[in-house]
Amino acid sequence: MRYRRLGWSGLEVSEISLGSWLTYGVGVDRDRAAACVRRAFDVGINFIDTANVYGRGAAESLLGDVLRDVPRQSYILATKVFFPMSDHDRGLSAAQIHKQIDASLARLRTDYVDLYQCHRYDPATPLEETLRALTEVVAQGKARYVGFSEWQPEQIEAAAATPGAVRFTSSQPQYSILWRKPEAAVFPTCTAHDIAQIVWSPLAQGVLTGKYQPGHAPPPDSRAASPEMNTFFGRSLRSDRVLRAVQQLTPIAKRLGLTMPQLALAWVLRLPAVSSAIIGASRPEQVTENAAASGVQLPPDVLQEIDAVTALAVQEVQQAA
Ligand SMILES: NC(=O)c1ccc[n+]([C@@H]2O[C@H](COP(=O)([O-])OP(=O)(O)OC[C@H]3O[C@@H](n4cnc5c(N)ncnc54)[C@H](OP(=O)(O)O)[C@@H]3O)[C@@H](O)[C@H]2O)c1
Repeated sequence: MRYRRLGWSGLEVSEISLGSWLTYGVGVDRDRAAACVRRAFDVGINFIDTANVYGRGAAESLLGDVLRDVPRQSYILATKVFFPMSDHDRGLSAAQIHKQIDASLARLRTDYVDLYQCHRYDPATPLEETLRALTEVVAQGKARYVGFSEWQPEQIEAAAATPGAVRFTSSQPQYSILWRKPEAAVFPTCTAHDIAQIVWSPLAQGVLTGKYQPGHAPPPDSRAASPEMNTFFGRSLRSDRVLRAVQQLTPIAKRLGLTMPQLALAWVLRLPAVSSAIIGASRPEQVTENAAASGVQLPPDVLQEIDAVTALAVQEVQQAA
């Protein structure tokens, strides 16, 4: 496993990190979830991502349970705040940030998280209020660094221009061979402020593994077939045109001696702006396979070939959103 700097912070995160959306505490049973986390540490992953809203606290609780015997300084833990936790609890007001960080720390059974992320921008709260609360959370030692997810360039610039406020060190956008939107403006804006990208759904929820075949029902043990986990599996990700394009990546991966997930993860990691690809995993074998993408370099002609076979599929997936 190789490690990259998380923006301007002193943190060194593994190129592959482990997330917990839809999986831990929700669609994957406890023993399997625990085995995935253990395997992550075995293969050198040191970075775990979660959010208060995943399973409305269930993902954090499961991680708190599984991580309680692991030395706290040996891994980097990230969580998030914004989405509703109850009918009254949502957003990035100062009151919510202070309430939700304490609830997250209690579920995670720790005194601090390494990274506390605003899961989205909150248009209902003045940015200054959010930043003041985050500054206090860091001063109290409850979070070491702060980040955001899916903020727009003007919001990132406004935060950076706020005097006396804590500085963001990371950005968490969706990014994969099939979802390239942040390349245009979010990546350059962040680079100008030394803010790192830690990217979500780098395998397009499993589509880029090639296991979904055009014209066939999804494999029974896959996310797309799971009523607990397929809620966000958009129709465009299952379209025959998109799945056919993905199948055209198979010979490219084979030629390089890679598996499909490894090709897709090496693709997001080709950019130095990306510090880590946050994978999901329902089985420990997936963690092992995916971790082996760290350190793989894709030659320029391969990148061109990937662009050529996926151009129309990228358009279809991005336009459907
Ligand atoms: N900030 C945000 O708004 C946001 C949004 C979404 C996610 N995230 C973060 O990003 C993380 C990753 O998202 P994601 O789970 O969608 O990522 P992903 O890596 O694109 O998809 C993960 C899923 O693909 C399948 N898979 C993974 N490796 C495989 C392999 N080697 N072979 C076959 N199938 C494989 C597994 O599902 P099955 O085995 O069930 O098919 C796995 O759960 C989340 O856990 C979360 O921490 C953040």
